[in-house]
This record gives sequence, C-alpha cells and structure tokens, in this order.
Amino acid sequence: MKETKISVIGAGNVGASLGQRLIEKDFADVVLLDIVEGLPQGKALDILQSGAVIGFRHQISGSNDYADTAGSDVVVITSGAARKPGMTRDDLIKINTGIVSGVVKEVVRYSPGCVIIVVANPVDAMTWVAYKTSGFPRKRVLGLSGVLDGARLAAFIALETNKPVTDVSCYAMGEHGTNMVIFPRLSKVGGTPITELLPREKVDALVQRAVNGGAEIVGLLKTSSAFYAPSAAVAYMVEAIVKDTHETLSCASVLSGEYHLCDVVIGVPVKLGRGGIQDVLELELTPDELQTLAASAEAVRKQIASIPDLS
Ligand code: LAC
Repeated sequence: MKETKISVIGAGNVGASLGQRLIEKDFADVVLLDIVEGLPQGKALDILQSGAVIGFRHQISGSNDYADTAGSDVVVITSGAARKPGMTRDDLIKINTGIVSGVVKEVVRYSPGCVIIVVANPVDAMTWVAYKTSGFPRKRVLGLSGVLDGARLAAFIALETNKPVTDVSCYAMGEHGTNMVIFPRLSKVGGTPITELLPREKVDALVQRAVNGGAEIVGLLKTSSAFYAPSAAVAYMVEAIVKDTHETLSCASVLSGEYHLCDVVIGVPVKLGRGGIQDVLELELTPDELQTLAASAEAVRKQIASIPDLS
C-alpha cells in the first residue's frame, strides 16, 4: 500500500517545525520544499538523523522541485512573508497573494487530489486565494486559525486558573486576526464556562491576549513570528484528516450559506477526515453572536476585495 505523503511548502520556522512534528507522529512520509537551495534538504536530513533516537519509521526529505511532492495526500503551504514588528497580517496581503497563488498552481499540477492547508497570512484571505487558484471543491481547501487561537486562549486560561491546560477547552472563530471571534461561554475549564469561573474583566483580558497572541510573540522575537504552537496546530489538523478522525476543529473554511454567510472564508467548526472538511458545523448562536461573526466575515471580505487579480 502506498504510504501517506504530506508535503510542506516552505522550510522556514513553521515549515521545518511542522516537518519535525509530523515525522515524529510517524503516520506519513514528509517532503519539505523550499525555493532556497539546500535549506529543505539540510533541515530534512537533520530531522531524518533524529529517527534512531526518536524512533520513527517514515521518511522525510527536502527538495526544491515540486515534482518531488507528486501524489501528496495533504499539502501545507507555509511559504510567504512573515510579519515583522508593527506589521499587520493585512500588510502582507499583496506579497503573499503572489506567493500563494504561484505555489498552489504547482501543488495542483503534481497533487490534483490533495487537501490544501494554508498557513500563510492573512490566512483567511490566503485560503480564499488557494481555493480560487486551485479550483478544488471547498472541502479540500482550509486554513490554520481556530485550533491555534483556541490553544493560545487555553494556555492563558490554564495559567490564570492554575489548572492543567488539558482540562481547558476553547473555541475561536471568525478571522484569524484582530477581528477574531471568541465567545467566552464556549471556553471551559473541566466543563464549566470561564464566564462562571472568572470575573468579566479578567475574561476580557484573557480573550484580548489570545486575539493578540501572534503579535505578542512577533513583538518578543522581533525577527520571526510564532512557530511552535502554529506547527502543533497544523500537525493536529493533518492528523485528523489522514487518520479520518471526524474530529470537530475550528478551521478557516470557505462558507456557502452557513451562518448566513457565502463566498467568504472565516474560522468555523468543521468536521475533519479523509478528503478534508466533511461537514461545516453550525453552532447555535444568539442573534448578537451571529452579528459579531458577520462583522468578522465582513473584515475578511474587504481583504478579499483587495486581492490582486488571480488570473
Ligand atoms: C500566528 C500566525 C501563524 O498567529 O498567524 O502566529
């Protein structure tokens, strides 16, 4: 039987960390691809040499040639300019549209049946670019957002409540950016909503810190954006797809009438499994919450409107 194959486009911090996380999970062969000669080969070889110590049996290799990604089951696109301090994700829109659409054309050529996961920012708009450029059905194109944003909030709640993070479950929806939507009633510690555990101001502060989660790290690192938590989140999404777990995760997804929204990408809960998105879940939201989600989608719509011609 053919081994499952995952290709990671871009061997920078997110891509290389993701390659490492995936190979350590040991459910697929991994190809790291980058345009910089030697970079993906060197990082892949380094990771491969950890195999005897870690104990994995799959292969990881590096390449500058898309032909080596042929027949991938999942392709993760991490390439693109990363934010520098003071830059918003929107500042990246023009440069990353060119990069993502170019990458997607190559990906589709060699892996016409794959699922594409977009990490490049602004991720909602870039997921739209990948959707439009690929011509794939919407279930095979998604982006990293809510899994990461929810994990960030969970970390802050665990710190604040002094509970293990494994007891915390969180939900983030909407844009992966300043218009992120977090409904605190859906974030729980041991099954109890945080709204019943913490004062309102504290909840608001934790939510705000999660919304700024990526920017806080950019501010600290100065020359890089986050990569440990983002790579962990993507690896988890890939695993749900490859292992066909049907787990519900919040991902940037193309909407087609769900939440009364159409032709836009935002983070919503989706059921992941073989072939990508198996179902878009519609949570029961109050009219106010629906309005908040619609406002977030509107912000993404504006980004999409500013995308240069994709033809
Ligand atoms: C972040 C990037 C992955 O939020 O968007 O760190």
